[in-house]
Amino acid sequence: MKILKVLSFLFLLLFMLQCTNTKTPESTPANINTTFIPFPQKLESSGHFSNINNIKLSDQGVAVEQFLPWLTTWPIPVEKTKAGEKANLTLKNIPTLKAGAYTLAIRENDFEIQHKDPEGLRNALSTVHQLLEFNESKLPILEIADERAFPYRGMHLDVARHMFPVSDIKRYIDYLAFYKLNYFHWHLTDDQGWRIEIKKYPKLQEIAAYRKETLVGHYNDQPHQFDGKKYGGYYTQEEIKDVVAYAHARGIEVIPEIDVPGHSAAILAAYPEFGCIEKTYETGTKWGVFFDVLCPKEETFQFLSDIFDEVIALFPSQYVHIGGDECPKDQWKESAFCKKLKKENNLKDEHELQSYFIKRVEKIINDKGRKIIGWDEILEGGLAPNATITSWRGIEGGIDAAQLHHPAIMAPSSHCYFDYYQSEDPDEPLAIGNLIPYEKVYHWKPIPEELPDSLHQFIIGGQGCIWTEYMKDFKKVEYMGLVRMATLAEVLWGKNSSDIDAFTNALFNHIVYWKKEKANIANHLLDIQTSVEMEPGKGVYVTLKTPLNDANKYSKKPTTKDFTSFETDKIWLEEDGNYQFYAALQGQKGRTKDIKFQGHKGNLAKVTLKTKPSERFTGNGPQSVFNGIKGFEDRYGGSEWLGFSGDDFDATLTFDTPQNIQSLSFKFFKGEGQWIYLPAKIEVYNISDKAKRQLLVETNKIESEGKISNITLPFSAATVSKLNIVVKNFGKIPEGRQGGGNEAFLFVDEIEIK
Ligand code: ACM
Repeated sequence: MKILKVLSFLFLLLFMLQCTNTKTPESTPANINTTFIPFPQKLESSGHFSNINNIKLSDQGVAVEQFLPWLTTWPIPVEKTKAGEKANLTLKNIPTLKAGAYTLAIRENDFEIQHKDPEGLRNALSTVHQLLEFNESKLPILEIADERAFPYRGMHLDVARHMFPVSDIKRYIDYLAFYKLNYFHWHLTDDQGWRIEIKKYPKLQEIAAYRKETLVGHYNDQPHQFDGKKYGGYYTQEEIKDVVAYAHARGIEVIPEIDVPGHSAAILAAYPEFGCIEKTYETGTKWGVFFDVLCPKEETFQFLSDIFDEVIALFPSQYVHIGGDECPKDQWKESAFCKKLKKENNLKDEHELQSYFIKRVEKIINDKGRKIIGWDEILEGGLAPNATITSWRGIEGGIDAAQLHHPAIMAPSSHCYFDYYQSEDPDEPLAIGNLIPYEKVYHWKPIPEELPDSLHQFIIGGQGCIWTEYMKDFKKVEYMGLVRMATLAEVLWGKNSSDIDAFTNALFNHIVYWKKEKANIANHLLDIQTSVEMEPGKGVYVTLKTPLNDANKYSKKPTTKDFTSFETDKIWLEEDGNYQFYAALQGQKGRTKDIKFQGHKGNLAKVTLKTKPSERFTGNGPQSVFNGIKGFEDRYGGSEWLGFSGDDFDATLTFDTPQNIQSLSFKFFKGEGQWIYLPAKIEVYNISDKAKRQLLVETNKIESEGKISNITLPFSAATVSKLNIVVKNFGKIPEGRQGGGNEAFLFVDEIEIK
């Protein structure tokens, strides 16, 4: 950024010398460093406005024709020159530029874009659009040379769980175009609804498009409650054509997803003959993975072939996403037909049967001239010959695909699932769980570190996913999606610096802009982020940070009346009670953050863990569960909870001064729909004497009515300098439940030692 400022200054001097006869501008351009997301790779700015106040384009051939319906909606509509008019925008096709790259030179009275392909032209136009929006329709004099890191820069949207009017889908596409994203992955079908009109199969519209009611609250709230209201609808073929054309005019390819063979309860509610077992199927009314899957029969493949005929006629995309995720094999295992099919085709298990299914679907789509994309489960049992992978369960799917020389789109749920919470604030609207603040997205590297250079080419890009179980309307989609979409766009463009403070300043500018545009964008940039640390033998302290670095911070202790400006590095938590913090900048105030502290002997320990928590659920380090602060009770993840997939929690606590202790209290999270189970057993040992491991207390009775289990284990008082606490994971999830056959998660929070 420094180099940029120096270059800008030199450029400015040059321009001032050159432009002595230009009239003095009445205003100066907006801060160029906070204008662009993504930020261009090379930029030289004069600090002056040009005199351009309309945009006239000469007849430039086919490339720009594609974008005219978009360009006419800009603050200054772009118009083609009429007879006798002079153009002030020149477009030049330069075959030596890289794919997607462009240059933009804005001069005093005219400007020029160079590009190699329509994508490069669209990217340049997006840059001009941001300039106009942030400069009250004026264009600053500058030069940009820009190129992208990844050819695939995508966003996904689930319209099956909740659907949104066409006008909102178009607005979503506007956001993608603004941020130079070029693929819209439209998740059109799932257990809870079928959303695309297929003329040959009217029951998809009459039955599969509707569910009789919808779950209220979070899936983990027990018992489940429903709203009793019929919900549904679908996009007509005319509406879909309209959306596809709208996206095309903004340089965005729309990839339809028809999710098979799992996530098919809605299809089977309409056409049960394509299932493997006889039962009454119904369109899903709650979330999670359903056991109703399509049967790999010839009739099913014919049905899918007919559907894809209509899908392909609507979507010119080179790709069709065929899902392939989360397909429970229980009904296949039961089915006599599947047993026979496996035998006839030498398929050794249900994974190979799934692979058989996907390969058949791939052939149908390849024969119609298109390519498939599938979620990473389609790697299991053997990958279809021409498939591209969307790696969502982690990065391994992407790595495996690249090693097989197949293209991969990285969308790991650890960084790219924008249905997860984005802030730890307790006032956040309901979300599925977990936590992905925009900072985590910003620091994400789409190419896995373990992948050798020679295989990087197979990582074609990345994608943010918006699953809408907990997004009833488009306002919520904007709230959850927009900030992280902009951040992901910066990452996929190939950040020209790793300066998160500079990016945050730009993000703040964009948030202000979108608020003016009436978008329901989230603003967490003035939220206080606390980091709670323990110093062995001394206690617990908090350090504070806000995303906007320059913000002023204020704090209040439990027994003081007023907030005071925060001047020290650390706030020691020396008294029990509620500490409060907030930040403010330029008249704007962030939300107040509360930290409820209740001290105990565990605060003094040095904590080590035998097994690390799962990468997504590391809390604020091992001390998170001994720091006197309790995590949220309505959600897991965040800085207080530690989550272990299949592993035990096994902590050793060392005390500088031996402590007399007589009870331990534990807190666990239960969310079986999300594979989170209460532990099987707790064992606590005094290991102060190296030669003797003394069991202080144990139990295997750990229960809960709701999401939280609180359990206190008293024992005969003991003096300890070293303590070992073992909480045994539940183990494998039984078949027939959500996640059956997988390792259960164990979530642990505050362990109070008294
Ligand atoms: C997925 O989240 N089931 C792809």
